[in-house]
Amino acid sequence: MKHDIIEKNIGLMIVLIVLTISGGFLAEVLPLFFNKETNTPVDGLEPLSAVELEGRDIYIREGCHVCHTQQVRPFRSETERYGHYSVAGEFVYDRPFLWGSKRTGPDLARVGGRYSDAWQRQHLYDPRSVVPESNMPAFPWLFEDRIDHTATANKLKTLQSLGVPYSDEQIAEASEQVEGMFEIEALVAYLQQLGTVISERR
Ligand code: HEC
Repeated sequence: MKHDIIEKNIGLMIVLIVLTISGGFLAEVLPLFFNKETNTPVDGLEPLSAVELEGRDIYIREGCHVCHTQQVRPFRSETERYGHYSVAGEFVYDRPFLWGSKRTGPDLARVGGRYSDAWQRQHLYDPRSVVPESNMPAFPWLFEDRIDHTATANKLKTLQSLGVPYSDEQIAEASEQVEGMFEIEALVAYLQQLGTVISERR
């Protein structure tokens, strides 16, 4: 049988596997880089402010994305609960994206504006004081630790070099804007803008 030739020749098999996988890549992944729907920002999308960007880094550091997704799927059960389903154009400035894959807690893609700043602070300080059955951990140190502002400008600059439209002025002001700020303030600022670019339009 002809198949024997492939099965008994590991070198040939490797070559054919690589060809098959790159064919899949060319057909499935590559077009996404050029598809307008996936790489054009939705109307009104702004890059995160310096404060929000620092908040996002705290979100990553504390592993919030391990328990929370940021992606509303286009199913009725999800849109009724969370709001408009997520679209690719909302995430073009997200590097890395934080869609996540596990929901121990609710999806947060549209949590911006759902609660007051005071609720968010209280919930992060002591989740069970506002949601008695919650198993979310408390994050009290965010109320004591201040943001390290020394790297903020470089973070914006790096994103700018990747195509996020920060102006040089925004980069120059970045460190000043976050200096002396408590981590909790930046994290809440980040949470409060999540998903608002679309829910505002509805
Ligand atoms: C161990 C898993 C876990 C981690 C880690 C975690 N959460 Fe949660 N989170 C939950 C659960 C469970 C709930 C639902 C109960 C509640 O509201 O407290 C929740 C609820 C929330 C809510 C309310 C959402 C809504 O729509 O009602 C917000 C906001 C939130 N978490 C933010 C965060 C942030 C920010 C972090 C990181 C600093 C974080 N969570 C880390 C499990 C987690």
